[in-house]
Amino acid sequence: MCKPKYYLTTAIAYTSSRPHIGNSYEIVLADSIARFKRMEGFDVFFQTGTDEHGMKIEEKAKEAGISPKAYVDQVAGIVKANWDVLNTSYNKFIRTTDADHEAQIQKIFKKLYEQGDIYKGHYEGMYCTPCESFFTESQLVDGKCPDCGREVHPAKEEAYFFRMSKYADRLIEHINTHPEFIQPPQRKTEMMNNFLLPGLQDLCVSRTTFKWGIPVDFDPKHVVYVWLDALMNYITGIGYDAEGEGSERYQKYWPADLHLVGKDIIRFHTIYWPIFLMALGVPLPKQVFGHPWLLMNGGKMSKSKGNVIYAEDLVKLFGVDAVRYFVLHEMPFESDGTITWDLIIERTNTDLANVLGNLVNRTVSMTNKYFGGAVADCGAEEPVDGELKAAAAALRDKVQAKMDALRVADAITEIFALFKRCNKYIDETMPWALAKDEAKHDRLSTVLYNLVEAISVGAELLTPFMPETAEKILAQLGAEPRGWEKLNVFGLYGNGGKVTEKPEILFARIDVKEMEAKIGEITAQYAPKDPEPEKEEVPGVAQITVDDFGKIDLRVAKVVACEPIKRAKKLLKLTLDDGTGTPRTVASGIAPWYKPEDLVGHSLIVVANLKPAVLCGVESQGMILAADAGENDVKVVFVDGIAPGSKVR
Ligand code: MSP
Repeated sequence: MCKPKYYLTTAIAYTSSRPHIGNSYEIVLADSIARFKRMEGFDVFFQTGTDEHGMKIEEKAKEAGISPKAYVDQVAGIVKANWDVLNTSYNKFIRTTDADHEAQIQKIFKKLYEQGDIYKGHYEGMYCTPCESFFTESQLVDGKCPDCGREVHPAKEEAYFFRMSKYADRLIEHINTHPEFIQPPQRKTEMMNNFLLPGLQDLCVSRTTFKWGIPVDFDPKHVVYVWLDALMNYITGIGYDAEGEGSERYQKYWPADLHLVGKDIIRFHTIYWPIFLMALGVPLPKQVFGHPWLLMNGGKMSKSKGNVIYAEDLVKLFGVDAVRYFVLHEMPFESDGTITWDLIIERTNTDLANVLGNLVNRTVSMTNKYFGGAVADCGAEEPVDGELKAAAAALRDKVQAKMDALRVADAITEIFALFKRCNKYIDETMPWALAKDEAKHDRLSTVLYNLVEAISVGAELLTPFMPETAEKILAQLGAEPRGWEKLNVFGLYGNGGKVTEKPEILFARIDVKEMEAKIGEITAQYAPKDPEPEKEEVPGVAQITVDDFGKIDLRVAKVVACEPIKRAKKLLKLTLDDGTGTPRTVASGIAPWYKPEDLVGHSLIVVANLKPAVLCGVESQGMILAADAGENDVKVVFVDGIAPGSKVR
């Protein structure tokens, strides 16, 4: 029987600079899914690559005194080496400077133009000459360029536009009838409310202000907009042909089963991309997963601030599987994850050295010590064995359920729960005590058999996440991989099997002082040479840009219920109708100034995209706006009469 196909992709990385561990998270995530799907029996095609055009790259190349192509060749090499050091099993690495990709982009652009989806018009706005950029009035800061602060002037430029609005209704319909299309579900609400429902503008899909792009062949002073160029990689990489049927590979693998992308670019993938595909008459991908971000010390990684970590350094210090484990395990499904050097040390020492490494080491050592390495189930069962056996046999399906929901961190947690259960089993059965009594020989052998078997199951399921470690564990135990179909059966380790004589330590405990010294040497290299100049600030409040402000999703919401919170005198629990149809709970410290009945029925403004926090046992999903009205007085900002869900800007 033919294996079912599974096509997954990562976003293609910009070749403007070296990727840090945040950018590298995605490839490891994708790799774990790809490997898992292969293990399940899918015929997987896994594509990644680099996004190599655009003004930024042109500028960087100029700074470096080399051609843009030489520049992207260098960075693409670094990206690929980075993906390889992380032991990722991609099938194709596409570059948007590949000749076949460029040729297809020109054909696609022409096709869309000829069928009327792309038209020639004018781009109007305020233009900053030194920055070669257009801005809308609202993007300007004090009427000046938001990037360099210089004068701007009205300008009009010829450009090609894509008729986005033509396809908006079809896309809304698709999103509504395919709840799995945008994941996690909260991203769907964001896309609908912030972009689709307010109405789509036509998109400018060509540029004349720089040269480093794919020329529009029938009008070569224009280059193709970098997102139109980049998004198409998902079909050009597998052999799409705008003028024909496309390759066998394309016929087989498209539509993609999964596009994995960061939360910042979900809009491009769930609005522009499906609309481009609709215009081309190409089926839509089945799912786009917008993963959260890996933050360093709670903030964005930034080279200029020196708070950045690179995968190669991590791999050198901790080993590839420790890095894979860390990023996969540390990243929640919806909210951002955190990486710090301290956390990696801690996780390596606890989860990897203590829980896993020790378990394997103790099991192999005891098997050697008591039975010369031979493993045998002598049938001397006791009730305590049942739980371990059941946990091992149930693991495959538990992990599969998590992986089907793309909850990769939870899948790993399930596997480690089995390893912890094995450690508990050692405490419960105390093999060293059994060894003292000759009459307990069979029992001791059975205990060690159960351990070897349970660890083998766990290790095999660990393969997609930590491939080298899994292989080493299976080799140390003398266990053959049993294959997906048999992974839910306990007791397949063959009697008479042997563990290795001298087990290699899988994860040595890290000496914190020593490691800190090594980390110090590494981070010193990245300390910014020219620290960012302190910006002039309004006293007391840091200045922000329009973009910073745009990150705050302010919405009108109506108070439908309100009650005091018993454990907190100052807090009120408000239930809000924010127009999404799902009630939103907010805990607010306004009890000294308002009674519940003062609020119910009124509309106010809520910060809707604030990370939820638990306050005195209540999960608060946002914050409401209120003003300090003189000494020790607070007034909620009421906006009665405005529909719940309305955006405030
Ligand atoms: N070139 C575009 C993608 C085009 S796809 C047709 C791009 N490149 S990127 O290099 O900036 O980012 C690559 C991926 O890394 C994106 O999915 C982005 O969200 C992700 N990440 C960038 N920083 C990240 C973290 N700190 N943490 C997790 N992922 C992050 O966007």
